[in-house]
Amino acid sequence: MERNKIIDELKKLRERDPLFENGRILSSVSTKPPRIALEAFNIFHDTNALDRFLFDSINKLEREIIEWFGILLRNREVSGYITTGGTESNIVALWSAKKIYEGRREIIVPESAHYSIERAADLLELEISWISLDDEFRARVNEIRKKIDKDTLAVIATAGTSALGVIDPIDEINKLCKDVYFHVDAAFGGFVIPFIETKERIDFSLENLDSITIDPHKMGLSIIPSGCILFRNNSYLERLEISPSYLGFKTWTLSGSRTGGTIAATWANIKYLGIDGYKRIVNECIENTKFLCKKLREIEGLEIVVEPTINIVAIRTRDTERLFLELRRRGWKILMDSKTKSIKIVVMPHVTKNVIEKFVNELKEIMRDYE
Ligand SMILES: Cc1ncc(COP(=O)(O)O)c(C=O)c1O
Repeated sequence: MERNKIIDELKKLRERDPLFENGRILSSVSTKPPRIALEAFNIFHDTNALDRFLFDSINKLEREIIEWFGILLRNREVSGYITTGGTESNIVALWSAKKIYEGRREIIVPESAHYSIERAADLLELEISWISLDDEFRARVNEIRKKIDKDTLAVIATAGTSALGVIDPIDEINKLCKDVYFHVDAAFGGFVIPFIETKERIDFSLENLDSITIDPHKMGLSIIPSGCILFRNNSYLERLEISPSYLGFKTWTLSGSRTGGTIAATWANIKYLGIDGYKRIVNECIENTKFLCKKLREIEGLEIVVEPTINIVAIRTRDTERLFLELRRRGWKILMDSKTKSIKIVVMPHVTKNVIEKFVNELKEIMRDYE
């Protein structure tokens, strides 16, 4: 095939899918990365972070990213690595838990946890003990308290649940986890909560927190695949170490080859934006979330499922499915959660006030036709 034809075919294929900048994507937890991330990716696109013999520079970038998270999450001892995303990070967290508490099998998991926890349990042969949710869709702390016993390996909490963006009562759960592993999945909320005014804490000042999942490819605005697993100190990764004879050096990552491209992209983002840059972007998203909620409250028959703390809003009506299908028919890219029967709007940086106004106007039209 000729070069031009290949490129044309790829461009045509890409055109079938929507672009973030067209302003109709409301379901995505990722967005278009800034140009600096793409430039950084290009410089390192042919590197492999596994191969420290050839590409030691990637290790330096990765270490600096982890150190940055250490500052953000109040822990100079922090250790971790760049994963392929929240799924890998959650698996690695439970893998390391299993290495510490050998013989324990039970993990305590709120019903709102991401499905990757179930995946991890399946892979690692763990048993899940489910925790129900309260009226605000947060894990019931009392149930956790009752369930923790000598067989408990780990307790999971989520900071920004996948369906509703809810933050579990992490402070209270932390207090119960003195003798068990405590992992917080902040895949989405990890790049939001530290930058906004809130009483919620998701950092290592929580004395029982062992590890935390944070995804640069979500609100960190990096290129997919970039996740991050962060541990309280280096002993967790040391337990996962292996020295393959053919390599001649140690590795502790679950995945083998890893692109240096996304590590460089994440590094470029945190250097370019810094804490102040993220604060600005995240707080704009929060302001737009408030703007959206205000407009939604004006629409009769529409309910906001739970008051948002972060930039995720879930809505429902008497007949959410009908609304969902009509919005989709009109070209809005949305998802509906089958458990809560709600439509999720993730107020990412590409969901601007303009986009929100258009969306709300169409929503009003549809709801008027409902009557
Ligand atoms: C709370 C939470 N954890 C983990 C994940 C998995 O992330 P990834 O798709 O990057 O593996 C998601 C994805 O949306 C999520 O919302």
